[in-house]
Amino acid sequence: MNSTATLAHQRVEIVRGPRSGATIIAAIHSTTLGPALGGCRLRPYEHWQDGLADALRLSEAMTYKTSLAGLDNGGGKMVIVQPPALEPAAREDLLHDAGDLIETLGGEYVTGPDIGTSSLDMAVIGHRTRHVFCRPESEGGTGDSSFDTALGVVEAIRTVTDHLYGSADLTGRRLALVGFGRVGEVIAHLAVASGGEVIVTDIDPARRERAEQLGCRWIDPALALSTPTDILVPAGSGGLLTAAGVSSLRCAAIVGPANNQLASDEVAEALHAAGILWAPDYLVGAGGVVGAGARELDRLPPDQTQDRVRRIGQTLGDILTRSVAQHVPPHRVALHTARRRLAAFGQP
Ligand code: PHE
Repeated sequence: MNSTATLAHQRVEIVRGPRSGATIIAAIHSTTLGPALGGCRLRPYEHWQDGLADALRLSEAMTYKTSLAGLDNGGGKMVIVQPPALEPAAREDLLHDAGDLIETLGGEYVTGPDIGTSSLDMAVIGHRTRHVFCRPESEGGTGDSSFDTALGVVEAIRTVTDHLYGSADLTGRRLALVGFGRVGEVIAHLAVASGGEVIVTDIDPARRERAEQLGCRWIDPALALSTPTDILVPAGSGGLLTAAGVSSLRCAAIVGPANNQLASDEVAEALHAAGILWAPDYLVGAGGVVGAGARELDRLPPDQTQDRVRRIGQTLGDILTRSVAQHVPPHRVALHTARRRLAAFGQP
């Protein structure tokens, strides 16, 4: 989000895992507000440098995520470049290597689940370090963060529909959900339960059956972005929205948890120019870290944890109100708000 000749990140470690041979990257963008939080992403990349680029961009977004959510934590991310044909035993080696790298960071970075990793994987990482969120309850954690993430997304969607249509009621609202993984599935469930008409797609066609069981209509991935809808909900991997693709979108707003859903920062301006409201991903998708922090750091009970996650909707509402009053697009208000808090704590 910033390009200068100086590293914007506080610390970046890249290792070849001694057990697995896999490239593992830990990017700590900022610990100005506290230990850096961010998930551990496990997926193949063509070159490990692509994984590094992902880690750098994702960890910066985590800094804005934690800042805007009001957490006393900074932003980081771990990327494990998945080797071809990963066997289950090799997966354990990989996660142990990741855990050892996290341990060398001495608590500056705390990991959690992300694309390609689950709470069971957090348990395996937890054999090597205690700086890990969302282990299963049987291992002393509080489990998967998907529900919290999805709850925050649905609150954000309600805020946006209220802003656009004068009602937070989702009855009859059309949502197009792009990405039906762990988080996407809960969003679909909550949205259908609230009366929404949910169209779903995923790159994995095997997900269709589950989507239809929940009462969603399946659509081909190629058609998902151009299908007429009220709210487009990116809930898969990043880079979905490109500058060239803006003109084919048929939605009033984009509100989803996929991290770095814009292929580049300029897309936010293009969406604004096209009259499409883009709710910043790093705000909309904060429920996972907010919930994990509330449960595992502050030991809050479930109802208070959910209240905290729901505040994402209010924060977004404040940003939309200021955006209108100041004639500044929401993404700039959000980034400014996140950076102002960091600056108040001395971030250069
Ligand atoms: N994948 C989560 C995110 O992007 C990361 C996370 C979840 C980190 C839960 C810690 C706890 O926000």
